[in-house]
Amino acid sequence: MILASFITDADTRSVLYIVSFALFIYGLSGLTGPKTAVRGNRIAAVGMGFAVIATFLVPDVSNIALILLGIAIGTVVGVPAARQVKMTQMPQMVALFNGVGGGAVALIAWVEFRSSNGFDGVPTYVAIFSVFAAIVGSVSFWGSNIAFAKLQELIDGKPVTIGTLQTPVNAALGLVAVGAGVAIVAGSHSEGLMILLLVAAAALGNLLVLPIGGADMPVVISLLNAFTGLSAAATGVALNNTALIVAGMIVGASGTLLTQQMATAMNRTITSVIAGGFGGTVEAAAGAVGAGGGTVRATSAADVAIQMAYARQVVVVPGYGMAVSQAQHAVREMAKMLEAKGVEVKYAIHPVAGRMPGHMNVLLAEADVPYEQLKEMDDINGEFARTDVSLVIGANDVTNPDARNKADSPIYGMPILNVDESHSIIVLKRSMSSGYAGIDNPLFVNPKTSMLFGDAKGSVADITEELKAL
Ligand code: TAP
Repeated sequence: MILASFITDADTRSVLYIVSFALFIYGLSGLTGPKTAVRGNRIAAVGMGFAVIATFLVPDVSNIALILLGIAIGTVVGVPAARQVKMTQMPQMVALFNGVGGGAVALIAWVEFRSSNGFDGVPTYVAIFSVFAAIVGSVSFWGSNIAFAKLQELIDGKPVTIGTLQTPVNAALGLVAVGAGVAIVAGSHSEGLMILLLVAAAALGNLLVLPIGGADMPVVISLLNAFTGLSAAATGVALNNTALIVAGMIVGASGTLLTQQMATAMNRTITSVIAGGFGGTVEAAAGAVGAGGGTVRATSAADVAIQMAYARQVVVVPGYGMAVSQAQHAVREMAKMLEAKGVEVKYAIHPVAGRMPGHMNVLLAEADVPYEQLKEMDDINGEFARTDVSLVIGANDVTNPDARNKADSPIYGMPILNVDESHSIIVLKRSMSSGYAGIDNPLFVNPKTSMLFGDAKGSVADITEELKAL
């Protein structure tokens, strides 16, 4: 009896929620470094467990069997998916899961609309927050699906636009969704209006992300992430659920900060990202292969080993290709050999190298590369001019000098690693094909550059063998 009243007591739920928020925030603080990230993630997951338990203790929770079935289905789908996903596929998985969050929020708003007979008799603020959640959640769901399809290469990564109609059509869809929302808040109980709102927001979500090209994808994913967080927080206000408000605001705030940081790293404003086009113009599509003419010099592992063994400083520039070939451990072994020969080795980390924030940091930390050897773009760029050898391992767009020199390049203005300033450059990749932005890279035909063609892991292992023999 005492136990039953303790369990259903509102204060018990509040205490459980406070414990879960403390765990969310403590877990989040662990995500500031690769070494503590896994633990941080687990702590936040335990926090979510507390929040779920507390929500089950809400007295009027009904349909418990259905909720448990939903949890079971989610677990059966989610756990194997998360276990099997390759590191390089993580961004699309994040996009997909993020979209599911937005979709759930939009559906909850719809359910609330129906169960209250069109927000009849509910406070106006509940209707406002529900309508906001329905629009933003729906945009996030459909936009995230397109982002997933682009990253998974199910649809072309290049911008898909409807030309000059793009902005007016987007504006019209936004107006229809907001107009329907205003009518609902003003007292219309028409379900047709709610469906119109959801459909307009769905079309807007598709049309917002389809025109966004290669290099802007990181900004878009974190923007959609922020959208989902904000829509979840709005649902929390509408449902009077503190856990949703806090968790939604954490996601919304961190997603917004990340979007801002990503946009700054790419030297872009968020509005220009949404306007589309960066990293994938018609010219970019045409130049997908090759380096725009010029002589390509191929080299061998033996020559690379000799060049690096007699260098004073070697800067390793990792990119997406290192992640694809999982070359990080081989790179660490090679660096140890170089260090044993008295060569100073540093790693140049571009903020959007790879396919997700911190991608290179995570991989190199996994291979036990000392953290102090990892240099952020702004810290290393001044050093390239006095670097003997820059070893570019599966990086492309983040080293493209056109971003600095060619005003009509789709990536013009994006800060890059100034690899071309080093005394000599060695590029490890499999072919002359382009990177994510789909454009030529004149670095590959720079007279100071030699190309070592092949899978990065194999090439690095070959170099290490040659170093051993020296
Ligand atoms: P990319 O420009 O994508 O270039 C990667 C290069 O790796 C390719 O040119 C490819 O050439 C090579 N490669 C692939 N597999 C390889 C393998 N097994 N061995 C050796 N090389 C291999 O990479 P980046 O320089 O890291 O730039 C990242 C790009 O992705 C930017 O445009 C960025 O905006 C975008 N992006 C980033 C993120 C985040 S948050 N980081 C998210 C989405 C998109 P070959 O095929 O010839 O081998």
